[in-house]
This record gives sequence, C-alpha cells and structure tokens, in this order.
Amino acid sequence: MLRTIESLGPLGGKRIIVRCDLNVPLEGGAITDDGRIRASLTTLNELLHAGVKVIVISHLGRPDAAPDAAYSLAPVAQRLSELLGQPVTFATDTIGQAARSAVAGLGEGEIALLENLRFNKGETAKNDAERREFASKLAEFADAFVSDGFGVVHRKQASVWDLAELLPSAAGRLIETELGVLERLTERPERPYTVVLGGAKVSDKLGVIEHLLPKVDSLLIGGGMTYTFLAAQGNSVGASLLEADQLDTVKGYLAKAKEIGVELVLPVDAVMASGFKADADHEVRPVESLEAAPWGAAGMGLDIGPQTAQEFAQVVKASRTVFWNGPMGVFEFPAFAEGTRTLAKALTEVRGLSVVGGGDSAAAVREFGYTEADFGHISTGGGASLEFLEGESLPGLEVLGWQS
Ligand code: 3PG
Repeated sequence: MLRTIESLGPLGGKRIIVRCDLNVPLEGGAITDDGRIRASLTTLNELLHAGVKVIVISHLGRPDAAPDAAYSLAPVAQRLSELLGQPVTFATDTIGQAARSAVAGLGEGEIALLENLRFNKGETAKNDAERREFASKLAEFADAFVSDGFGVVHRKQASVWDLAELLPSAAGRLIETELGVLERLTERPERPYTVVLGGAKVSDKLGVIEHLLPKVDSLLIGGGMTYTFLAAQGNSVGASLLEADQLDTVKGYLAKAKEIGVELVLPVDAVMASGFKADADHEVRPVESLEAAPWGAAGMGLDIGPQTAQEFAQVVKASRTVFWNGPMGVFEFPAFAEGTRTLAKALTEVRGLSVVGGGDSAAAVREFGYTEADFGHISTGGGASLEFLEGESLPGLEVLGWQS
C-alpha cells in the first residue's frame, strides 16, 4: 500500500525533503507554464502549516550533469514564493555550502529550494553506488522524505528512488491524486472509453497502444505519428514524419483492432504545408492525396484536418472516459493549432472523466486558455502517466510501497 504523509507521524519541527517535479518550460528565463509549480502547492502548504522545515528539490530540463545557468531553478523559486505567499530561500547549489546554510537557516514553517538536482552527476547515474552517494548527502539535510514529483516516478534516480530508501518516506498529495485518477482509467473505466494519442513518434507510444488497444472502445490517432499509420494503409505521405521501421508494427495494430472490434480511428484529412515553419503555405488535403501539387512529395502534414478534428471531437464528446496524450499537430505554430484546439475543447465537454496526460498536451490546453477546472484532471506527468497506463512498474511508486 502506498505510504502517505500520515505514516510519517507528527510533523511539527521536522526537517522534510520534498521531491517535486518543477520541470517547467522556460523562454528567455521566463516560465511559460507554471502548472507543475501550482500542482505542488497542496503538499507544500500542508507541511508548512504543520510547522515543517521544508526543503524542496527538483530537476529542470536535461543539463549535462554540471551547473548551467540556462537550467537554474532560480526563476522557479521566485514563482513558488509568489504562489505560496511567503519567502522561498534559494540555494545556489544542491549539496554544497549554499544548500547547507539554506537548510540550517530554516525555521518551522519556512521553506528552501535547492538548485537543480541534475547539475550533479549522481542524480541520474546508472551506477548504484554513485547514485546512492549523492542521495546520502541529500539525506543528511532531513529527518524524512516526501516524494511528490509524479512526473519523475518512472525514473530510477537518486532523488526519486535512493532518497526514499534512505529516509522514512511517503508519497505527497499530488502523487496520491494522480494515482487516484489513473486507477480510475485502468480499473473499470466508465464506457465508452476513448484514448486519443498524438505527438511525433509512434515508437514512443508502442507500449501504450499495445496495452490499451484491448481495453478501450475507441483509439484515436493524431499528430506526427498519424503518417506512419497512413503509410501503413498504403497512402503516400510526402515529407511528413514517417517511421519506416514501425510500418509492420503499425499494420499489426490495425489488424488487431479489426479482430477485437476496437474502433481505431485515423485522420481522413490533414493540413499539408510547404515546410516546417510557422508561416509555411498550407492547404487541407484528404489523406488519399497528401502529395498533391504544388508541393508534391515535399509537402508535410503539420495538423489533422478540420473534418478529422470534427470526427474526433464527436467520438470524444460521446465518451464517458477519455484519456488524451500528445498534440494533434504543431500547435506551437498558430496556423497548425486548430486540430489540437478542437480536441481540447471537446475534452472540456465530456460528461464523465476527461484526463489530459501531461507534457505538451497540458501546455497546449493552458495555452488555449483552459485551466484545471475545465477537465477531470490534467496530469503533471507525460511519460509517467503513459508508463502507468502501459502497466509498467514505476520505481518511484514501488519504493513508496505501491504495487500495481
Ligand atoms: C517530464 O517532463 O516528463 C518530467 O519532468 C521528467 O523529465 P525527464 O524526461 O527529463 O526525466
């Protein structure tokens, strides 16, 4: 059973390390989506109100195991302080002098954020001893550990796995919430149950397609991965994303869906563009003639077409449970955002449980102006929620006593 904060006993006066996933998108040093910071507030507020000395740790991006200003958590410390309404001491290192003095200076109900964990090679080391050594230094700062970075529970890293073994440890409220929602998807989802997958690569989604195909009523495929499916059906896809090495696998999924009576819905049209640019010339084309003039085989599909978007929206709105991961097109370019926008809107109209599965899809819905309140749940973990739905065992949950 998942150990929760209650298992840590009386909290007041304790020093507790909290692993959050504060890996937020930054542009020119400014946070463009603070969803993950907001999602961390429940646990942090609870601990602070209980008189805990809170030490927050997180990674940001994938720096090269050395300090790199572009990946500093400093802007996150500032935003966290605004959202909590209290000062957040920022330590400019993770286990060095700055961290030691930040932790030593904490009073009850006060909070510090340490610099990016991944500036230290021990954090992501494959070597167990190296990872453990780094985690041991972090463990010296605290009496207990709360793991609340749902977005990293699929990673066997020092701050996710080792630290939980070294200190009395428990899951935070965000992990509890995320698990509660994902369990509703895996155990007796209300039907019809629809899964919508998008994003660039089929190869990232193989596990989830395989695992979910027999469990859903409809599987809708959009985004860049569409073109491998369309090619498997014999369509020419021009210069669109195509994973030629996955064609046989994809043909297998199409056959399997037919055999077990699952509706695997592919686009009927696409927005073809002259190139991968925000201002590229573009036209809507039926999938049978993606290579039509003027771009011929040089044209590339950057969004699902309007007819597909409407069809997808209808299936989604008629469902009682919907899980969506991966944009339908290059939504960062306004000209190719319509498919993703139409789908996002349809999810807000589901009469039942709608879940947006992390990463790019979460960023997209917020960019369109939607908030957590518009969906059943916006997951903070893209990779983590997919691996959960694949039925994988997640090290960061296992170490907290959870069993699938
Ligand atoms: C994410 O963005 O999915 C999480 O923060 C995990 O990041 P990672 O894929 O770099 O481990």
